[in-house]
Amino acid sequence: MHDLQRLREEAMAALAAADTADALEAWRIRYLGRKGLLQELIRAIPDLPPQERPAFGQAANALKADLTAAFEARQQAVAEARLAAELASEAVDVTLPGRRPQVGRLHPSHQTLREIYAIFSTMGFQVFTSRDVETDEYNFELLNIPPGHPARDMWDTFYTTTPGVIMRTHTSPGQIHAMRTLGPTKPIRVILPGMCFRYEQVTARSEMMFHQVEGLAIGRNITMADLKGVIVEFANQLYGAGRRLRFRCSHFPFTEPSVEADVDCILCGGRGCAVCKYTGWLEIMGAGMVHPVVLRNGGYDPAEWTGFAFGMGPERITMLKHGITDIRYFFSTDLRFLEQF
Ligand code: PHE
Repeated sequence: MHDLQRLREEAMAALAAADTADALEAWRIRYLGRKGLLQELIRAIPDLPPQERPAFGQAANALKADLTAAFEARQQAVAEARLAAELASEAVDVTLPGRRPQVGRLHPSHQTLREIYAIFSTMGFQVFTSRDVETDEYNFELLNIPPGHPARDMWDTFYTTTPGVIMRTHTSPGQIHAMRTLGPTKPIRVILPGMCFRYEQVTARSEMMFHQVEGLAIGRNITMADLKGVIVEFANQLYGAGRRLRFRCSHFPFTEPSVEADVDCILCGGRGCAVCKYTGWLEIMGAGMVHPVVLRNGGYDPAEWTGFAFGMGPERITMLKHGITDIRYFFSTDLRFLEQF
């Protein structure tokens, strides 16, 4: 009976210390298993004096029942504790502030470019792209600007190490590409978007890289009135209905006559402000009737065909629209700027 009492105390203490499923199984085999410690005592009953056997047998059975009950209770407690620990470690902290996803977007220049494409598409203009790296021939000579021509000063140029190969200074060489690709017997109505490069001091007002959108229309009866109509329609679609336009005489070697087009200041409505430098007008593009020499260089006979061309800067348009005072933001890759659009 003393042995049974010792076994009870030892088993209960060991059970309280078992806190994993493996430890519990080891405990069960040691104390309640077929070759376990309790079974060992029961097997020794025949060695007892006969009058002690019934009482010992009863006490052994009671111990077995108690240990089994304690084992099952402990098993359940260990499983519950484990589940609770798992839940706690995997829990979502709903008070943690969320992480805002970074949403990508189009560069402001491209948002404006797409607006320009959409507007000109309503007037039947298709997009025609041409190369950023050009030859001196296309960028200048075929546009009626021979070597040494003083007008070259308007386009300070980045040269490559290959003689005659340069970074285009404007999208106008695309006029020749378009005429030579689409002509010489069909009318043309295209816009030519693209990046341009100029060897310039970078300041708030001028960058060494920027976009242009060129326009070119060639046909049999195209006049200056068509040019004015298209530009007025464009300005009214882009800046809102009721805009006033002003055409000033200008000069480009590849157009004759040449003009610069102004729109009444979208910020002050023409009354005068810092953005329009108190003139009430904002210059939005250069334009003109395609010069006969350029038509001929594109393969068109100037006796039969006429056309108009214009060129504008989407960065400048974006600056006017949003009151941006420094063009350097566009290619500075500063997210604080880009994320505003
Ligand atoms: N290419 C001219 C420039 O870069 C703009 C222009 C284009 C003017 C077409 C007239 C006709 O300044």
